[in-house]
Amino acid sequence: MLVTAKEMLKTAKEGKYAVGQFNINNLEWSKAVLLTAQENNSPVILGVSEGAAKYMGGYNVVMGMVKGLIKDQGITVPVAVHLDHGSYEGSMKAMEAGFSSIMFDGSHYAIDENIAKTKEIVALGKEKGFSVEAEVGSIGGDEDGVVGSGEIADPAECKMIADLGVDMLAAGIGNIHGKYPENWTGLSFDTLAKIQQLTGVMPLVLHGGTGIPIEMIQEAITLGVSKINVNTECQLTFTAATRIYFEEKKDLVGKGFDPRKVLAPGFQAIKDTVKEKMEMFGSIDKA
Ligand code: 13P
Repeated sequence: MLVTAKEMLKTAKEGKYAVGQFNINNLEWSKAVLLTAQENNSPVILGVSEGAAKYMGGYNVVMGMVKGLIKDQGITVPVAVHLDHGSYEGSMKAMEAGFSSIMFDGSHYAIDENIAKTKEIVALGKEKGFSVEAEVGSIGGDEDGVVGSGEIADPAECKMIADLGVDMLAAGIGNIHGKYPENWTGLSFDTLAKIQQLTGVMPLVLHGGTGIPIEMIQEAITLGVSKINVNTECQLTFTAATRIYFEEKKDLVGKGFDPRKVLAPGFQAIKDTVKEKMEMFGSIDKA
């Protein structure tokens, strides 16, 4: 069932668990994430970066594919299709294609411009019926070409953006996209606590979900995080499983060259990773 992320995250915040956003890249990714959500009776958010939308052929291709999967695979759990780190132009295109949720990432603008553009997208969201995520304090690392320097968000700025009527708020708290370096100092829970104190019931979003230890994930959920984004980890497990297929020369046996066979271990690896994260986030049986 295609829904916005608004109700899903409100319920998650009240229930003290988080819904996973899993970024998709193709049909296998989308099917693996949706089937895992259905099998585990979990709400789910499909994250689509602008680069991934371009790769898949465009925003309408993504919506057509996901709607088709929901119908033909009998997916009844709540599913949001969410633009990840959208530019202003990308947000408009995703909106036209019928995405049910949009992250407008204005974190690289000065705060005044971030506010002006976020306001406009919030108004469109209310009119057209999609949920909106905003970001304060750019999140470190490289997310599909969007490079952030890893700032710690200013809680007062978070409050300003939250008051614009967004449905969820991402704030930099020392989290980074991609693998965490050896010398990573961890999440700033003091900052998170201050943001939660100022923004109240607003569901908070934790980007860079790959490789954050379970204790930190759980502490973050206790402090108001209701959506956790995972991208790199599915890429790593998919690629590792695919590599083994070739290392074992399975492609040379019988019809092992059939792409449906080649992609099967990676597909299963995505399912296993998504299930593990859903358990960690507490979203199983919360559909
Ligand atoms: P990772 O790639 O580190 O899991 O981060 C994903 C993310 O935050 C998408 O917005």
